[in-house]
Amino acid sequence: MSARILVLPGDGIGPEIVAEALKVLEALNREAGVALEVERSPIGGAAFDAHGVPLPEETLERARACDAILLGAVGGPKWDALERDSRPERGLLSLRSELGVFANFRPAIAYPQLADTSTLKPEVVQGLDVLIVRELTGGIYFGQPRGIRERRDGRREGFNTLAYDEDEIERVCRVAFEAARRRGGRVCSVDKANVLETSELWREIATRVAARYDDVELSHMYVDNAAMQLVRAPKQFDVIVTSNMFGDILSDLASMLTGSIGMLPSASLDAFGKGLYEPIHGAAPDIAGRGVANPLATILSTAMMLRYSLDAPELANRVERSVGQVLDDGLRTPDIESPGTTLVGTREMGDAVVAAL
Ligand code: IPM
Ligand code: MG
Repeated sequence: MSARILVLPGDGIGPEIVAEALKVLEALNREAGVALEVERSPIGGAAFDAHGVPLPEETLERARACDAILLGAVGGPKWDALERDSRPERGLLSLRSELGVFANFRPAIAYPQLADTSTLKPEVVQGLDVLIVRELTGGIYFGQPRGIRERRDGRREGFNTLAYDEDEIERVCRVAFEAARRRGGRVCSVDKANVLETSELWREIATRVAARYDDVELSHMYVDNAAMQLVRAPKQFDVIVTSNMFGDILSDLASMLTGSIGMLPSASLDAFGKGLYEPIHGAAPDIAGRGVANPLATILSTAMMLRYSLDAPELANRVERSVGQVLDDGLRTPDIESPGTTLVGTREMGDAVVAAL
């Protein structure tokens, strides 16, 4: 198997965690007889500093040309005061939108080894395996018009638009139903249909899609209740499908069920299986450069890349088993540390995964 992978380290802890994922890819090149060719491009604040824009044209072109993309994280206080279009986050949002990666898979799996790392009781999270399918290229993140304007009374107001058309809802729901078919056979569609018209349509389309999957059970839940249920009894969920912003919020929430946001990978896929792979956490500027960030979410994102874009499920399993192995061995970065375990830094964690491979 050969493939071209574009790596976008980004900002903050991005370069550190991506470096560990690259070690894993290099190890596969050496030992698994694959030829993964890696290129690198700037994105986010790093791209703004070098090229004056958070998503340079060349980065986008290379992203279009490669087989899969691995991204670290973007953002940081250094760029917060820039105009909105120049900010690092805009680079990431434009990349997602330009690539059309509308289906964002965010699995939250509670590793048994980390059961006491979660702030919730072990029995609540033990065995948890929920997949959040977040719509990623529409909704309030992208709706027009948007802005901050001055009203006639001289007061300023901020405004955004939440809109979804039928096709956008339908395609992400289908992806969720297909995924559910290969796992627990249940989809919970999360919305705010008691208040929002967008959600009313969302619910109608989800129900219409469900009619074509008689082997998958559909339920609906309001997002406020879903937030509560995720903390109360998270194991009731199999696949959750939801809009861009609700998915953003619920996936951070779900990450804490697993012990740390440093453990959650993601895959964002277009209609043809091309994907952008990134940990769900941000650039964590407070710990950047200190060598303490958890690289496992990025390494697990690499496993998702092997599975979904490079058609190498056995290599994906191998990477995931290696992560399990280092956790079994008691190695922990600070975010997942608990009594009786061995504290390690970013690099040692990456090296340990490579050794386990
Ligand atoms: C995420 C992040 C991004 C988002 C930010 C960095 C723009 O929070 O991937 O969840 O809101 O989508
Ligand atoms: Mg987020």
